[in-house]
Amino acid sequence: MKTIISIKELTKTYIMGAAKVNALRGITLDIFSNEYVALMGPSGSGKSTLMNLIGCLDTPSGGEYWLNGVNVSTMDDNALAEVRNKEIGFVFQTFNLLPRLTALDNVALPLVYAGINKNARQQKAREVLDAVGLGDRMHHKPNELSGGQRQRVAIARALVNSPSIILADEPTGNLDTKTSVEIMALFEEIHKAGNTLIVVTHEPEIAAHSQRMVRLRDGLVESDVKNENVVSAYDPNHRYHQE
Ligand SMILES: Nc1ncnc2c1ncn2[C@@H]1O[C@H](COP(=O)(O)OP(=O)(O)OP(=O)(O)O)[C@@H](O)[C@H]1O
Ligand SMILES: [Mg+2]
Repeated sequence: MKTIISIKELTKTYIMGAAKVNALRGITLDIFSNEYVALMGPSGSGKSTLMNLIGCLDTPSGGEYWLNGVNVSTMDDNALAEVRNKEIGFVFQTFNLLPRLTALDNVALPLVYAGINKNARQQKAREVLDAVGLGDRMHHKPNELSGGQRQRVAIARALVNSPSIILADEPTGNLDTKTSVEIMALFEEIHKAGNTLIVVTHEPEIAAHSQRMVRLRDGLVESDVKNENVVSAYDPNHRYHQE
C-alpha cells in the first residue's frame, strides 16, 4: 500500500488577540492511497482544523505534512493552492454552492481556475453531473434543488478536477436519513473508483461505511482502529432501511 498522506506531530495554534487556542497538539497519522477513513470526535476536538490542513486550506503551526511524498507544510500560499487544485476535492456540510450559478456552472467553476477552456469545462461538468445522477438537473440553481441534490452537485464539483483525495466535513449533517444513505452510496462509488476518502462525521452509522475510524480528542488522536464490519450503503438489511 502506498502512503498518500503522512502527518508527523502536526500542531495548529490559533492566536486570538492575547489568547491562544491549541486546536491540534501533535497529530501523527499515515493514510494510504485509496483508504476510506472516518474522522470522529467531540465538537471542538480539531476535526475541521485537521481537514483544513490536510486539504491545504491552511498551514500548520508545527510538525510535518507530506502529501504524495512532498513536504507541503513548508509551502507558501501559491504553491499550496496549486497542490490543492490538483489533489484535493472538498465537500462541506452546508454544500457551499454559489446561489446564482446553475448546477452546471457550479461544477465547472474549479476548471476555470485550472485554466481549461469553456467547451471542455462544460463537457467535463456534464459528465460528472451525469455520474452523480443529476443529468436532468444541470440547469437548476441551488435553490431549485433538494438538499440531497445540492450535496450531489457539491460532490460533482469536488470530483471535476479528478483529485486523488476527497475530504468531506460532515457531508450528511444537513440531510435526512434516506438522503444520507444515497450520499454515502455515492462516496462508496468514489472509493471504488480509487479515490482516498476522509469523512468527518458525528454519526456512527455514517462512520460504519468507512474502513478505518480515527477519533480525535482535545487536538490529539484518541483512537485509530480498523473497521472490521464495513457496512455498504447498498446493503438492503442495514439499519437505515429498517426505520
Ligand atoms: N479560525 C479559528 N480561530 C480561532 N479558533 C478556532 C478557529 N477554528 C477553530 N478554532 C478552535 O479550534 C478548536 C478546534 O476547532 P474545530 O473546528 O477544528 O473543531 P471540530 O472538531 O471540527 O468541531 P465540530 O464538531 O463542532 O465541527 C476549537 O476550540 C475552536 O474553537
Ligand atoms: Mg468541524
